[in-house]
Amino acid sequence: MGLGEDFSLKVEGLDRVLSPIRVPYLMVVAGNPGSGKTTLALTVCYRNCLEGRKCLYVSFYEDREKLFSYMAKLGLDLAKAEFGGYFKYLRLPAGSSVDTAVNTISTELSEGGYRVVVVDSINVLLETVKEDAGKRAWLLNFFYNLPTITNGLGILVAELPYGSERLEIGGIEFVADAVLLLKHRIEDGFLSRVVEVRKARGVPLNQVELPFSITESRGFEVWVPPVIEYVSEERGEVRLPCEPLRRAWGHLHRGMVVNMVYPADSDYRDAVLPILALAIENDMRILMISYKYPPQPIIESLKYRLRTLGVDEDAVEGVVSKYFKVVSLNPFGFSVSQLVIRENTIIDSENPDIVVFHGVEIPRAGVPIARHIKELYNQMNYLKQRGVLVIRIAAYTNRESYSLESRIGEALLRFYYDVSSGSSVRYKAFAYRRNSLPTIISSDELAKCVEESIEVIKKYTKKPSL
Ligand SMILES: Nc1ncnc2c1ncn2[C@@H]1O[C@H](COP(=O)(O)OP(=O)(O)OP(=O)(O)O)[C@@H](O)[C@H]1O
Ligand SMILES: [Mg+2]
Repeated sequence: MGLGEDFSLKVEGLDRVLSPIRVPYLMVVAGNPGSGKTTLALTVCYRNCLEGRKCLYVSFYEDREKLFSYMAKLGLDLAKAEFGGYFKYLRLPAGSSVDTAVNTISTELSEGGYRVVVVDSINVLLETVKEDAGKRAWLLNFFYNLPTITNGLGILVAELPYGSERLEIGGIEFVADAVLLLKHRIEDGFLSRVVEVRKARGVPLNQVELPFSITESRGFEVWVPPVIEYVSEERGEVRLPCEPLRRAWGHLHRGMVVNMVYPADSDYRDAVLPILALAIENDMRILMISYKYPPQPIIESLKYRLRTLGVDEDAVEGVVSKYFKVVSLNPFGFSVSQLVIRENTIIDSENPDIVVFHGVEIPRAGVPIARHIKELYNQMNYLKQRGVLVIRIAAYTNRESYSLESRIGEALLRFYYDVSSGSSVRYKAFAYRRNSLPTIISSDELAKCVEESIEVIKKYTKKPSL
């Protein structure tokens, strides 16, 4: 553990932006009340404890039990880390003089072994010092040196009053290796959190404002838009379940985005059958995120359709429960960025191979496409990076969204009415796959695709189950 050793915060998105973090490293975490400073500082502290690095957390927080129980909800078991000797909560009485505080901290540090030290917060600690010059002297003589003393990571939490984004504490921004400013703001009427990376020594800063979330059990998570150069498209091949689609598209790959669009004045419900057959054929599990209906009606109507098409009861149950899961989200229960975070969180925990977004015309109707497209683009790249096959099912509601979303996808299937057979309406489709010529799939061919898909489903379910 020499000088210049690589350290990490164990907060994935931040590590990606800040790395390499070479100790001794001083970081300032600033923000308005309730912005998440304590949560971030304790997350870094706790996760380093899990790596066997001792962490000292110095605070004026009144109630230890309360703090521990809040953090436990966010997945930080501080009591256990403390019991294991990796974590120490050092509570200083509010109003302690800086002398006393520094003595207490120094004594604790001399016990040895600490690699991470958090002071929450530096403002409160320096409150008793009236003059700026005095504050500056304490910072220079002691607090800035904390990482050097421990040859580790020092985190100084700085509280900013509401409405202020200025750190007015003894030139702290100049001395720190990194300055993170946590902000929470209202976006579309909902709380949205971003961390602004004000400064990070030794690395180029491309993305300076990153969305983050604080959620039960998953705790503090930062979402960094993927760097497109690192997004690979050539992932595992995905076989298509019917001849007409093979003719139109050849095959697909994991990491691709497929758009399926039908007219806004009807639904092409059978679109889901080839998707299910594709899942079976390639042994990929589907997660459908529906903005339109709750899970139960979607699952019931799929089962009903399968039974109507001659798949027997047990087989229907087996195949649907193995391959098809639905989660429903009201897109207007979140701001756009928080909706994407919520979806990514669900996808992370379900870990599906295929994600079907159902009713994508609904969320995009609520926000100007120009705003929506940024989140969408980042999310699609995030899913590409994970090797997920994305299928977006939308109704055609406006030309601009259709055009933009088509550009994001690698393959497109747009259903039209085919009224050539008199009063009954069937569908035909326009099919496009990037780098090849568009083709038309006739209504007979579409019907054939559904038939072949049903065959795939039946064939699978005839196999003896393992
Ligand atoms: N269990 C939880 N689930 C979701 N969010 C939570 C949970 N617990 C806390 N939060 C969120 O975390 C935020 C508080 O975080 P934290 O205490 O880290 O902020 P802070 O910046 O340290 O605040 P202060 O200035 O009061 O010290 C709250 O705004 C709350 O919304
Ligand atoms: Mg706090």
